[in-house]
Amino acid sequence: MHNRITFPSDFLWGASTAAHQVEGNNINTDWWVREHARPAQVAEPSGDAADSYHRYPEDMQLLAGLGLNAYRFSVEWARIEPEEGWVSRAELAHYRRMIDCALELGLTPVVTLHHFTSPRWFAASGGWRRSDAADVFGRYVATASRILTDVPWVCTVNEPNIVAMLAGGRRGELAAATLPDPDPTVTVRLIEAHHRARDVLGSLVPARTGWTVAGQAFHAVPGCEAETQAYAYPREDVFLEAARGDDFIGVQAYLRTFIGKDGPLPVAEGVETTLTGWEYFPPALGIATRHAWEVTGHVPVLVTENGIATADDARRIDYTHDALVGLHEAMTDGIDVRGYLHWSALDNYEWGSYRPTFGLISVDRETFTRSVKASGRWLGEVARTGTLMRPVVESSC
Ligand code: BGC
Repeated sequence: MHNRITFPSDFLWGASTAAHQVEGNNINTDWWVREHARPAQVAEPSGDAADSYHRYPEDMQLLAGLGLNAYRFSVEWARIEPEEGWVSRAELAHYRRMIDCALELGLTPVVTLHHFTSPRWFAASGGWRRSDAADVFGRYVATASRILTDVPWVCTVNEPNIVAMLAGGRRGELAAATLPDPDPTVTVRLIEAHHRARDVLGSLVPARTGWTVAGQAFHAVPGCEAETQAYAYPREDVFLEAARGDDFIGVQAYLRTFIGKDGPLPVAEGVETTLTGWEYFPPALGIATRHAWEVTGHVPVLVTENGIATADDARRIDYTHDALVGLHEAMTDGIDVRGYLHWSALDNYEWGSYRPTFGLISVDRETFTRSVKASGRWLGEVARTGTLMRPVVESSC
């Protein structure tokens, strides 16, 4: 016996990565600097990561072989512009080869221009607090546009809401219940930068443009609705409002957060948690999708990330299945969802540690050998058939 739910035939089915988390030796970034700071700020540095800088053809072949039809990856600003105003044509050519590789394999490329990491020179000169951040980012976007001529989906900035919070804290703190206060200047600059990037891209390439926002499924403890709204607005809704008029909104959802009188509550005792310490809560995707649709004023949704850090791959299938059920319900209610890109294609560098494994494919840390997990084969089958299936164990009674 099977539960069957079907998705549109032109739905994008894929997986996502980010340059710093998979490429390896991304030495010109602010993150590399942070990873090697003393005293240590992170459990371990990214090092060679998954060596995807060299092994991306294999990664993409595996994804295409599973039956997926899209791949989201990021191009690294610090490689393309290693010094302010200095463009590396060789790195542009590298990323162009990645785009060609995806297209040749039948994978729709979804390209992110900024995924948490910035060039060292940008960070050292004030980063997103620079008053000319939008000019500087816009110039990089114009440069990157040279290789984006046939890329249908471009994400300007990944999770600007987390970037604004990181500006006030460290990535490692984000697993904790309390998200650091977003830096208000950084918030303003990021919104300016996104709008500039949207204009630049709009004038140079035919891509659909949007940014990707971390949806946090805030739940008010009864009586704490006002506190929840006040907590959520600067951490999420201001960034969704800034996406009004975009071609799409990238929804990224993993967990929910309860908000009480004094702010967020820790995950309750006895509740299942993942390797990132987050509550196991698959409905987060449907909730975040509905919320993004509402706050953006009905901008089409592309799910650009959703997944689970777990060593139990069967649980990854459970989580993804149930998240997709919630997504499909939102679609049935009229929300325009264009695709689902799972986080992540590979086990990778989870911003300070390799311990939380999100991948559909595992990577041997010594040899870089890739091994497809059952969850990867399962999602590939969903993609190939457009049908969500989970065998229901027949009762023997
Ligand atoms: C980010 C990814 C990250 C994932 C899991 C998102 O915040 O975009 O880079 O690995 O969630 O934490």
